[in-house]
Formats: sequence, structure tokens, C-alpha cells
Amino acid sequence: MAFVNKIKELLEKRELAHLGGGQKRIDSQHKRGKLTARERIDLLLDEGSFEEFDMFVTHRCTDFGLEEKKFYSDGVITGYGTIDGRLVYVFAQDFTVFGGSLSLAYAEKICKVMDKAMKMGAPIISINDSGGARIQEGVNSLAGYAEIFQRNIMASGVIPQISAIFGPCAGGAVYSPALTDFTIMTKENSYMFVTGPKVVKTVTGEDVSEQELGGGMVHGSKSGVTHFVAEDENEGILLIRKILSYLPQNNLEEPPLANCEDPIDRLEDSLNAIIPENPNKPYNVKDIIQGIVDEGEFLEIQRNYAPNIITCFARFNGNPVGIVANQPNYLAGVLDIAASRKGARFVRFCDAFNIPIITLVDVPGFLPGTTQEYGGIIIHGAKLLFAYGEATVPKITVILRKAYGGAYCVMSSKHLRGDINYAWPMAEIAVMGPKGAIEVLNSKELKELNDEERSEFVAKREKEYIEKFATPYVAARYGYIDDVIEPRNTRFRIIRALQSLSTKKDTNPPKKHSNLPL
Ligand code: HXC
Repeated sequence: MAFVNKIKELLEKRELAHLGGGQKRIDSQHKRGKLTARERIDLLLDEGSFEEFDMFVTHRCTDFGLEEKKFYSDGVITGYGTIDGRLVYVFAQDFTVFGGSLSLAYAEKICKVMDKAMKMGAPIISINDSGGARIQEGVNSLAGYAEIFQRNIMASGVIPQISAIFGPCAGGAVYSPALTDFTIMTKENSYMFVTGPKVVKTVTGEDVSEQELGGGMVHGSKSGVTHFVAEDENEGILLIRKILSYLPQNNLEEPPLANCEDPIDRLEDSLNAIIPENPNKPYNVKDIIQGIVDEGEFLEIQRNYAPNIITCFARFNGNPVGIVANQPNYLAGVLDIAASRKGARFVRFCDAFNIPIITLVDVPGFLPGTTQEYGGIIIHGAKLLFAYGEATVPKITVILRKAYGGAYCVMSSKHLRGDINYAWPMAEIAVMGPKGAIEVLNSKELKELNDEERSEFVAKREKEYIEKFATPYVAARYGYIDDVIEPRNTRFRIIRALQSLSTKKDTNPPKKHSNLPL
């Protein structure tokens, strides 16, 4: 009988812990259209799978009268559970307790689940909603952040790390999500910045709102800081589950095989006619992706940032792949600074987690101009080049149309250890486009011609140039292209190629790490 009270005490303590900062603050969270930390975890994990750690932790701060103000869990809910039956570790910041601000005890809770995720080789997911460093804890809070950052860095490339931002994420706190693999924000209620609107106003005189400075829409399109912008928290949480469905648990495992009902030899006749006759006319490369992948389904990453390159996860015969594709529909698919950074990061992610890379090429080259040169296109373009050259996962390339100049080399060419390189019959592979080439090769002749003679001369030379160089067969003659394939058969050829590469082993020379052009 004596233990009845003990059990009652436990249940009461649990009930109190579940109330976080109190009903009033929970109501205020709901009024803003936000869920509580525990509600978010319940939505994220398989039903009933959550096991919580450290519910009874409280802070140890005695300054500013804080010893009188303690809440169980101290503003962060941590533990583990499953997603589609697979183990994941999770922490969710609880805004109802001190605005979700981070104390030392809170940081220790996070570090505990991060350490466990690493030991177990399971993904770690964070849900951020916090006023940043707990001001009353001073340097202890900063120390706590840095301990988390260090763990993010060690976990990078070992276990997948995903961060959702469902509220404020400001100051140095932004660096934990920034160190992780994928960041998800919502259209409203979610913002990230290093310094908030008030400091911005004082320092630069600029008047900006929180959303204008660091809202989901800004980071999804202008900065590229976030990989996904969800309509709301529900969609954001579903996205986390979806991303994980493409990923292995850690860098030593293979990505999970899904059931595939889509015939591997499905011919997609529309692809034979998808490239316009006029080489300057765009088309939507997403139609090609949709036409070749399982059930036409793919998950696009950074959809509104650098749309001249598409990065997405998809499956071929149930096997997850990463697809990188130039998008002729936007800036003719040119490679600029943003596209190079976006592509490079995605290629490195796929390589770290054993996800084969499919590259669909239609690229007129690198974007010329002072904005690009002053912005360091040389260094940023080199990132994409480096990422492809360093990657040892299976690499399959299909040149759909243009592959000009340095961009030919960069986009997973044979020379960067591309495993299987195909081209469609309409591919144009050359040092530069016909117009530019004629200007360079025939500059002396062109100077001496009047306008009429000039256009006749250019047209004739252009025709010769296109016949000679703007085809896949010159590259195929040298073995730089393994085969010229019929567009409608691309799905089958990629699946065959993937099957042949499933036992691929390739390595890089031993080194501490590379010196990626950052
Ligand atoms: C302690 C905090 C807090 C903080 C909020 N609270 N932020 N307590 N430390 N950092 C408390 C509030 O006092 C309040 O307590 C409760 O949380 C809710 O906050 P409100 O201000 O009422 O909520 P709201 O109006 O929604 O505003 C949310 C907010 C604002 C925008 C996040 O609270 C805010 O600006 N906070 C400070 C943000 C900040 O500058 N943080 C430091 C960043 S620098 P009561 O008891 O009244 O409910 C940083 C460095 C990290 O983080 C470095 C890592 C290397």
C-alpha cells in the first residue's frame, strides 16, 4: 500500500511535466497557430513509439530569482521513437518554458540524445522554437550551444540530421540547424536570423519585419538557408518523414529499398519529342524527371532557390537516388553561383549517405558578367566540380541537350569518374555554342564583311559547326559517352545502369580531409 503514494507522486509529476510552462502558455501557443513540443513529437513519430528522457530535469540557475521558477523538462523535450518503424532520436524546444530558451541543463539533454543517435547510428531530428540563449544563464548557455554545435559537426556525414524551425531561431542558435543536412521552415511563424530587426535598425538603419528579414519565404528563395518551406507545421512534419524515407540510417548503411509497382521497362514515348527543335527554346526538365522515375514521384529540395538547377530525391525500381538536373526553363539552365552551391551541397550529401547520383544535363555554360565574377563564381563553380569529382557513389549522367564548355566537365562527366554516361541523340557537346565559337574563330574575316555578307557567312559556318560538333557522336567516338540512347527508353537504361553499379567500390586517397574551395 505504501507504494501507492509513490506511484501517485510519479503520475502527478508527469502530469505537471506535460503542462510545460502552464496551460496559459499552451493556449497562447495554440492561438498563434503553433503546436506544443510534445504535440509536434507525437505527430512526427509512429503512434505510441515515443520514449522520453529527462522529463524531470530542471535548470540549476540561481541568479535573477530563477531558483523559484522551475519547470520539469526545462524547455526541451528529448527522446527517441520510430518513423516508419525505424529508430530516430528527437528533441523539440518548448516555447512555453522560458520562451524555449537554452540553459545548460537543457543543452545537456540535447547532447545526451545526440550522443545516443551517434552511438546507435540513427538520424537526429530537432524541432526549434526558442528565444535563444537563456539570458539568466550567461556563458553557461553559450557553452551549451557550442557543445551542441560540436556534436552537429561530428555527426555530419555519419547520421542524417534534420532541423525544423517552427518558431523563432535567432542569434547563434541558428548555427545548429545550419550545420545539419536539411532545414524545414513554415510560411508563417518561423524565422531565422543572426541579428533581429531591432539590432538591424540600430546598426544599418534598415526597417524590416521579422518575416522580411528571416522568414521561411526569404530563406527558401533568397538565401537558400532553408531546404523546404512548408505551408504549416503539419506539412513540415510530414516532410521530415518523407525525407527520411529516402535515407539510410547512417553512412554505413544503404538507403532503404521501397516497393516498386512501376514497370522497369516502361517506355515514355513523350520523351522522344520533348526537346524543342529550336535549341534556344526551353522546356521543363521536371517533365523528364517525372517521366522516368518510379510512379513519377520525386521530392524537390530548395525548390525556389536557384531554380536553374533542380535537386531532388526519387526512386528507380524502388532504389533511392539523388537527381541533379539543369533546368532550361529558368535562365536557360545556366550555372551561376547559387546553382553551383545548391548542386554541390546536394551531391556531397548523396555521396556521404551512399545515395547514387543521376545527373541530367542541359547546360549552356557558366553565367557571364561582373556580378558573377565579383561574387566568386570561380570558387563556387569549383565547389560543384569538386563535389562531383570527389563523389564515389554510383554516378550516372544523361546529356539531354547542351553540354558546353566547363559546364560539360563539371556536370558529372566521364572525366570526373562518371560511371555510365549516356547522351540523347539531340545532345550538343562542344567547347562553346556555335555563335560564340564563330566569333572567336573567324574574328578577322567577320571584321571585313558588311552586315549582309556577315549574316550569310555566320549562317554557313554555324551549319558546319553544328554538323561537326553539336552532336553526341564526337564525344561517343572517344568513349566519353558510353552510348547514345533513345529518350523514351531512359528509365530502363538508368535502372540497368544502377543494377550494374550496385556493387561499385571506389575510394579517394587517404587524407585528413580535402580542402574544398569554400
Ligand atoms: C530567457 C526568455 C528568452 C531568453 C524569451 N524569454 N526569450 N527568457 N532568455 N532568451 C521568455 C520571456 O521573458 C517570456 O517569459 C517568455 O520567454 C516568452 O517570451 P515573450 O517575449 O513573451 O514572447 P514573444 O512576444 O512571442 O517573443 C518571443 C521572442 C522574444 C521574439 C523570442 O522573447 C525575444 O526577443 N527574446 C529574446 C531573444 C534574444 O535576443 N535571444 C538571445 C539571442 S542571442 P515570461 O515569463 O514573461 O512568459 C543568442 C546567442 C546564442 O541566442 C549564441 C550561441 C552561440
